[in-house]
Amino acid sequence: MAIERTLSIIKPDAVAKNVIGQIYSRFEGAGLKVIAARMMHLSRNDAEAFYGVHRERPFFKDLVEFMISGPVMVQALEGEGAILKNRDLMGATDPKKAAAGTIRADFADSIDANAVHGSDAPETAAVEIAFFFPGMSIHSR
Ligand code: TYD
Repeated sequence: MAIERTLSIIKPDAVAKNVIGQIYSRFEGAGLKVIAARMMHLSRNDAEAFYGVHRERPFFKDLVEFMISGPVMVQALEGEGAILKNRDLMGATDPKKAAAGTIRADFADSIDANAVHGSDAPETAAVEIAFFFPGMSIHSR
């Protein structure tokens, strides 16, 4: 399988629960390397732009409010099949439907406060990595 990169966000609920390290351990355990990282508090503009594809959805306003409710931890991950691998680690969008042992099953409270984001395709991964790490050196190892 090809080496890929994907964009991951540990959302405000999981940062507040102090489980950044536990989530990083899952990335590492699955062979995903953290190749860029930054902790930040998203502005409303950042959150609206990042989730722009959902602008017309009924949950958009609440999603933006949630994403700016506290700091997030943003990282680019690299590894074999990284996009799907990260999605598998995350589990289904709704934690009630997420498989046992996934990040969302273990750390998320609801479909809107669901602990993590992960890119869903190579095209979105490239756009999302450039969104958070524009012109930054990325340290592939
Ligand atoms: P989506 O891209 O469908 O899910 P995923 O994060 O698993 O790729 O949705 C983006 C985020 O929007 C999702 O993580 C949480 C929020 N959301 C809701 O709050 N309610 C919903 O009904 C859906 C579908 C998403």
